[in-house]
Amino acid sequence: MQQLFPGEVFANTADFDTGIRQLLPRYDEMLEVITRCLPSTTHRILELGCGTGELSLKILQRCPDAQVIALDYSPRMLQFAQSKITAAGYENRWSCIEADFGDWANNPEKLGIGREFDACVSSLAIHHLQDEMKFKLFQQIATSINPHGCFWNADPILPESPVLVEVYKAAREQWAVEQRITLAEVRAKVGTSFTQGYSSQDQLATLDAHLQMLAKAGFATVAVPWKYYGMAVFGGWLCKF
Ligand SMILES: C[S@@+](CC[C@H](N)C(=O)[O-])C[C@H]1O[C@@H](n2cnc3c(N)ncnc32)[C@H](O)[C@@H]1O
Repeated sequence: MQQLFPGEVFANTADFDTGIRQLLPRYDEMLEVITRCLPSTTHRILELGCGTGELSLKILQRCPDAQVIALDYSPRMLQFAQSKITAAGYENRWSCIEADFGDWANNPEKLGIGREFDACVSSLAIHHLQDEMKFKLFQQIATSINPHGCFWNADPILPESPVLVEVYKAAREQWAVEQRITLAEVRAKVGTSFTQGYSSQDQLATLDAHLQMLAKAGFATVAVPWKYYGMAVFGGWLCKF
């Protein structure tokens, strides 16, 4: 059996961009919300768990002055992202680092990523960390962005009540039907992942728990600009508005 890193999702990387859009309702809309929360004049952006580069591409399109430093621990996802970024002509504004963001949270100096980012973003990656590491990562992000900097994360969240488990599941099934596919067909392309570094299979927390961790980590303003059933975009600013 092929062993995947948590978050690689598909056995074949080339299936990711289509498959994730079939698996998750409103994937593009969710990523676009993150880009809209960034001022278009944003310069230095750190992306954690960039995968095949879909969020990077949307940011580079929307923010003409942005330099994106993208981190991911999967060589095959980074390779795929790099070729898409180059094909789109953004190679001078995008660089990548092969590393575990849990490692970065524990030992930031080791990776030499630097500080003073205007923003940090992430999508569908941080939920692989246990809550203790999520909090450490949020603290690290808080010390790595500028005083007016922001952090936005899109991730699945733990349903607030057992009743909602079925509601959220039904919404995903309905979405797949609308894409003229069944979830079983998409899931046939999904591989089995094993713990890798600090990440393991889904370690979901409620939206409320995320917001509390962010506030405790130093984000003075926390917000949820988007939520759709079991998916949310949340984050905030270090400063108070
Ligand atoms: C589901 S993909 C999402 C990719 C992209 N952000 C998107 O929204 O399409 C999750 C990505 O996070 C990466 N990832 C998961 N845990 C990680 C960790 N601890 N350190 C670095 N990358 C990680 C995986 O390799 C994968 O590329």
